[in-house]
Amino acid sequence: MGKDLSKRVLTFLILISLLAVAMNLLSTVEAQNKKKPRRDVPLVKGLSWSFYQKACPKVESIIRKELKKVFKRDIGLAAAILRIHFHDCFVQGCEASVLLDGSASGPGEQSSIPNLTLRQAAFVVINNLRALVHKQCGQVVSCSDILALAARDSVVLVTKLSLSLQSNLFSGGPDYAVPLGRRDALAFASPNTTLNNLPPPFANASQLIADFANRNLNITDLVALSGGHTIGIAHCPSFTDRLYPNQDPTMNKSFANNLKRTCPTANSSNTQVNDIRSPDVFDNKYYVDLMNRQGLFTSDQDLFTDKRTRGIVESFAIDQKLFFDHFVVGMIKMGQMSVLTGSQGEIRANCSARNTESFMSVLEEGILEEALSMM
Ligand code: HEM
Repeated sequence: MGKDLSKRVLTFLILISLLAVAMNLLSTVEAQNKKKPRRDVPLVKGLSWSFYQKACPKVESIIRKELKKVFKRDIGLAAAILRIHFHDCFVQGCEASVLLDGSASGPGEQSSIPNLTLRQAAFVVINNLRALVHKQCGQVVSCSDILALAARDSVVLVTKLSLSLQSNLFSGGPDYAVPLGRRDALAFASPNTTLNNLPPPFANASQLIADFANRNLNITDLVALSGGHTIGIAHCPSFTDRLYPNQDPTMNKSFANNLKRTCPTANSSNTQVNDIRSPDVFDNKYYVDLMNRQGLFTSDQDLFTDKRTRGIVESFAIDQKLFFDHFVVGMIKMGQMSVLTGSQGEIRANCSARNTESFMSVLEEGILEEALSMM
């Protein structure tokens, strides 16, 4: 009898402590997912945490709902959208110039070498989001804001949709409030300027540190933002300089051999996942890869080789929460680089053309239709 009672008490106590642990976990995860504005990151003049509260209060839910559907069809588009946002911000600032098609003035940013591997399907997604948002609210939300929100949602949704997690407990990457109020550029950069502004995969840590410093991004921002490579893919020519003719000694040998199988020649059109441990999960495994000398680009691996960045890589590899925290700070800083606000730029009616051009093309279409009907 006495033994039975103490067994029951013990079971009861174990259950209570398990419940306490679960509640604790729940509150930590919930706290992580709260979209409180990061007051510790300065806001650029003209942007605000509640910009569309009156003009388009549902903008964020429209975008997230649509992206859930899009990523269910093709999870790779999450990585593609995150990269487009980065390529937008680093060339002329986050003003959607990368979305513009070329025009009579010359080829657009998408024609520049580093942008040839941006995925066309992702540009279509951004324009579809724009159509949905404008249908609901009118032409009030900029393409650059839609892209910044879509990049944030890519980080949040990618894990959940790749692992088909139903629970809100494990939504994946960090959720965060995005400063809004960007306006869209009237012009794009030339392919050459675009090339000069995007860091190449063969850059070493010194070059990256200097490049990021020029944009007011510090060493921690550099290491945290490079963590974007925890998802997505790369084409062989982006890293085969580390395999042929000589193998990069900082690369793990069996990893190099596997890469050689994926890329039998330097110019092979095959692709390789960026993070071999968890390719479609937004987590800190990218840093674990670097510690095991399994980083894909020189620009990744050198962050572990260089003394100035190695400690940060190690700290993110052992503490995912720390990585998430710094990634969010880096994204908010990067997302505010050289933005257009107030009366600068415009709100595009079509993300791939400036308003006058889209107006002209509608006009031209009209004239053409009229001409055809007269024939
Ligand atoms: C630090 C300098 C960086 C360099 C040198 C770099 C370079 C590259 C290269 C070469 C690729 C592969 C392109 C291809 O071959 O298809 C790539 C892919 C990617 N990059 Fe970066 N990147 C950098 C920073 C960033 C940042 C800051 C982010 C976002 C926060 C980012 C997000 C991505 C993503 C998500 C992909 C995969 C895209 C896809 O799957 O379509 N990168 N990057």
